[in-house]
Amino acid sequence: MLNIALPKGRLGEKAHAVFESAGRGCPEIHEPGRRLVFENAGSGVRFFWVKPSDVPIYVERGAADLGVAGKDILLEHSPDVYELLYLGIGRCSMCVAGPRGFCESGDRTLKVATKFPNIARRHYARGGRPIDIIKLNGSRELAPRLGLSDVIVDIVETGSTLRENDLEVLERFLDISARLIANKASFKFKYSEISALAAEIAGAAEGGAPQ
Ligand code: PRP
Repeated sequence: MLNIALPKGRLGEKAHAVFESAGRGCPEIHEPGRRLVFENAGSGVRFFWVKPSDVPIYVERGAADLGVAGKDILLEHSPDVYELLYLGIGRCSMCVAGPRGFCESGDRTLKVATKFPNIARRHYARGGRPIDIIKLNGSRELAPRLGLSDVIVDIVETGSTLRENDLEVLERFLDISARLIANKASFKFKYSEISALAAEIAGAAEGGAPQ
């Protein structure tokens, strides 16, 4: 049995659809309810829903053999895992966004609200710009509107969250998409099961260049 951590939410549903089209899904996962674990003994897979930012923790520590995680989460947390496969789903961009027409004065520390402090710090360090990071776990779009920050660093997919909150993209600096990741010990000891599954998934996943 392969244990697979899926990110709860939009990306997890798309990820499960990829497993499903490879014939390795679990039909019960579509039933409404608050169950977190779904097993398909016939396909040798057990899925569990976890918070997206927790997927690398489950995989790195071996509670899951495999997981699906966005490149944003991987770059932010740098887990010690293998990136096996580019899945072609969850495509979005890491952006700096701010109020429409925002113009940086440059003469004072820029206040940046984000869920991705490491990515934001690295981005601004490249330009030598001093920043003050404000770590927020949700509703980042509120921060510039309420004066908590000047800008946000966040992922943008359709852009509608920004638009509906009177913000706009100021800079798009990183392309993001989802990866199949593997625990290093599992990859060694369950090599044939994992590589067979990865090959089936690769056949079912969308093509395109890795982001
Ligand atoms: C992300 C991001 C934006 C939204 C962007 O949040 O933080 O709020 O998606 O998507 P859009 O460009 O299509 O509007 P997510 O829903 O992943 O949840 P989070 O706020 O918990 O990170």
